[in-house]
Amino acid sequence: MSHPQPVSIGRTSVPHPLDPLTAVEIASARAVLASAGLLGDTVRVPMLLPDEPTKDELAAWKPGAPIDRRVDVTLLDTATGVATEVIVSITRGEVLRTERVPNDAPPYGQPQYLFEEYERAEAIAKASPEWRAAMKRRGLEEHIDLAFCGPLAPGYTGRADEVGRRVIRSLTFLKYDEDDSPWAHPVEGLIVHIDLTANSVIRVEDIGDVPVPAGHGNYRPEVQGEARTTLKPIEITQPQGPSFSATGSLVEWENWSMRVDFNAREGLVLHDVTFDGRSVLSRASVPEMVVPYGDTAPGRFWISYFDAGEYLLGKNANHLELGCDCLGVIRYLDGYVADDHGNPVRIPNVICMHEEDYGILWKHTELSGRSDVRRSRRFVVSYFSTIGNYDYGFYWHFYLDGSIEVTAKATGIVFAAAGEPGVPQKHATELAPGVFAPVHQHLFCARLDVAVDGEDNRLVEVDAQRIPMGPDNPFGNAFTWSETTLATESAAQRDADTSVARTWAVQSASRTNRVGRPTAYHLVPEPTALLMADPASSVAARATFATKHLWATRHEAGQIWPAGRYPNAHQGGAGLPAYSAGDRSLDGEDIVLWHTFGLTHFPRPEDWPIMPVDHAGFWFKPYGFLDQNPAMDVPESSQAHGTRDAAGGGCGAACTCGH
Ligand code: CO
Repeated sequence: MSHPQPVSIGRTSVPHPLDPLTAVEIASARAVLASAGLLGDTVRVPMLLPDEPTKDELAAWKPGAPIDRRVDVTLLDTATGVATEVIVSITRGEVLRTERVPNDAPPYGQPQYLFEEYERAEAIAKASPEWRAAMKRRGLEEHIDLAFCGPLAPGYTGRADEVGRRVIRSLTFLKYDEDDSPWAHPVEGLIVHIDLTANSVIRVEDIGDVPVPAGHGNYRPEVQGEARTTLKPIEITQPQGPSFSATGSLVEWENWSMRVDFNAREGLVLHDVTFDGRSVLSRASVPEMVVPYGDTAPGRFWISYFDAGEYLLGKNANHLELGCDCLGVIRYLDGYVADDHGNPVRIPNVICMHEEDYGILWKHTELSGRSDVRRSRRFVVSYFSTIGNYDYGFYWHFYLDGSIEVTAKATGIVFAAAGEPGVPQKHATELAPGVFAPVHQHLFCARLDVAVDGEDNRLVEVDAQRIPMGPDNPFGNAFTWSETTLATESAAQRDADTSVARTWAVQSASRTNRVGRPTAYHLVPEPTALLMADPASSVAARATFATKHLWATRHEAGQIWPAGRYPNAHQGGAGLPAYSAGDRSLDGEDIVLWHTFGLTHFPRPEDWPIMPVDHAGFWFKPYGFLDQNPAMDVPESSQAHGTRDAAGGGCGAACTCGH
């Protein structure tokens, strides 16, 4: 098996305006900021993103022409809490715009956390006399050194002593030795509220005296025991290499073409996705997610992590391992993000691209016995990000039939609290004796800047429709479908409805197929509960995107973030509610779809000590975009290496698949 060497995305021989940032570009941007005097000793870089070219700039650009490469930076003076947004032209070596972030006034909102703040928060918590006294009172004095003080975004509670300040909350977990998993040993009811600008404790809550669960939560083989030996190897071989090609950021596979991009906030971003040379998506990503907890306890009622907007999915992305994270002939792409000081950091192998056999593509057996079957294959672009205890994978699958399937995977360590063993709780399930996991949701928001045969698109809701028995339905069996144009941003705020097989069609406003219908793709949702929190809650204001399965907005440059640019400690109302407040027309316009999907998690014992991957997602499928099945020319499989199992059965080398 031969594996191509990992290559970097971005600048190769064919630079493109949508290429991801390179290490050299990030370093250059930092140099511009420094020479402009914007990087004092106490100034840090919570977020550095590409300032992507506008659609007008892209339309005007010709290959080989100069590109104005820009970055969009948020700076934070950690000594004062003053935050500044800066646009830098790397190409011209100048600062184009500087703007103070009004984070000390409503609706507030703090820049993303710095990695150094996690360490600082732990040091502040552990140095606090109140925290030490609480540990002593609980008889946990001997565990102080090894204890882990987990830093958590505070939500928005409206408390006067924290509003407008840069707050982090610290929950304590014990470790019984260096390698112990802290998440199994929560110290219940001990909450340290920290002001990161003043470097001080705002207050310490020390409530109750629930014993710390003693059972370990270690998942390592040295603790869990010998690995089983019954699994025989599965080897994926592609002796002629993969069927896709990557030239810089341009990736082509079968009928598909796309630009693969990566940034510190959204992680993986796809641009200019086309099928058969026709546009499908202009830009696609999962730019936000929220993990709201459904528990009333003082240490949990405020938990509502925005893993992209508060912590940065891309900055926390994994360095993937060949043969572990991805199997087969893999093409990896490296990604570059800025560290707390604005210096470039390389994340090797951050994006994985590979092909997978995916069972049957199409098949039929005739009465005569003749059978035709073709195997399905999909092209997968993915990355994984670890935010504290949880790990999230984001997978974009492209199929030979023109479909796109997006899957988010959740795994890692379930966040747990301590309770009385065997005593049921209303808002948490008992995973292991005394270890209670609060109910919570993982709600993702996909942003699809659609371009179905061009930018002039129309959004139509399609429902299966029952017909009452009567003159129009004399036998009662008949049903039909309804099509409702969602012509404005307010009309396009919709819920999914599996009882009527609801889908949302994105139709070309100008192009039709051979049966005279608008060419279209359908967004096919999968069943997902929406935000369970009350509409009057703080989290409903902050994660309003998660109160609807579908939003649609008219494209506008810079409208990328479903919960706003700074969801951290934000009062709410930013992002989608603000974007759609103007109730713009969507009819024949450049439309952006925003789709909420995800998991409502009632944790189970099988999720402990580490959670098997759970997933959620949706499909984007051609519906009259093509004039027939586009995979008729897929050849029969020539599986030279298949073998018949000794026990019989199996479709292997000797099998001619029905001929
Ligand atoms: Co979960």
